Amino acid sequence: ADTLGSAAAGTGRYFGTAVAAGHLGESDYVNTLDREFSAVTPENEMKWDATEPTRGTFTFGAADQIVSHAQSKGMKIRGHTLVWHSQLPSWVSGLGAADLRTAMDNHITQVMKHYKGKIYAWDVVNEAFQDGSSGARRSSPFQDKLGDGFIEEAFRTARAADPDAKLCYNDYNTDGVNAKSNAVYAMVKDFKARGVPIDCVGFQSHFNSASPVPSDYRANLQRFADLGVDVQITELDIEGSGTAQATNYSNVVKACLAVTRCTGITVWGVTDKYSWRSSGTPLLFDSAYAKKPAYDAVLAAL
Ligand code: XIL
Repeated sequence: ADTLGSAAAGTGRYFGTAVAAGHLGESDYVNTLDREFSAVTPENEMKWDATEPTRGTFTFGAADQIVSHAQSKGMKIRGHTLVWHSQLPSWVSGLGAADLRTAMDNHITQVMKHYKGKIYAWDVVNEAFQDGSSGARRSSPFQDKLGDGFIEEAFRTARAADPDAKLCYNDYNTDGVNAKSNAVYAMVKDFKARGVPIDCVGFQSHFNSASPVPSDYRANLQRFADLGVDVQITELDIEGSGTAQATNYSNVVKACLAVTRCTGITVWGVTDKYSWRSSGTPLLFDSAYAKKPAYDAVLAAL
């Protein structure tokens, strides 16, 4: 196979990218997207501030553009994300507990129903745990006002809204075995034991020299898979360049391929030109859309 999507398909997986609606009019961008990738994640367009900027008024235009493009090309779509402390409109953080619960459940329900039947997997809850050694929940309007039960509530509401979408918990710095991933692991284990609906765990995988690809990446993916959920690499980018970057990318791909329930890999952008890590060059295509050594390494590993 000579593209990322077709090579991944040969292993029964998808190879996706984050997409920004604002770049779909750029021919190099869309040509690279359509040629190489078999899945998309809207980079910002499905977040709460984009889809419900004022209470009860839903705006789906930009996300709809990405969804219809992806559907016309037969690409899978990951929905990102329903409940997150960031890119959250201020009206949400101002609500009291009872109202916040109603607003959260309504947001999940309305957004998921709008895309019902079109989404492969939803990041229902994003980044709910703290960094560091505590394994504690992160402070957020949801955590602070609704308590630990907000995640379970979100997943139950999500299952009712679109029973055919896989429901994922997604986070960063959970890629290796550490206190934060241990806390997520305990939550998923508890959900499975009690029948709370969860189908997958997303590992963002934003790597740099301070946060390198962990040596126990594959083992960590495998222990989650062994709980009976799919695992996905959801926001991969690796700062650096040349051979070192290529080797890191190759190692990530090999880790996913070694885990039967690792169902796909998504990089967090098509090209370095538009990476959110603007100081770096973390992606597979350079800013002129040329294939980098990291691209060749990924293709060879698939
Ligand atoms: C980032 C986007 O790439 C940026 O364009 C935006 O300004 C901020 O959010 N974790 C996530 C993603 O789950 O939604 C974030 O995306 C990157 C970190």
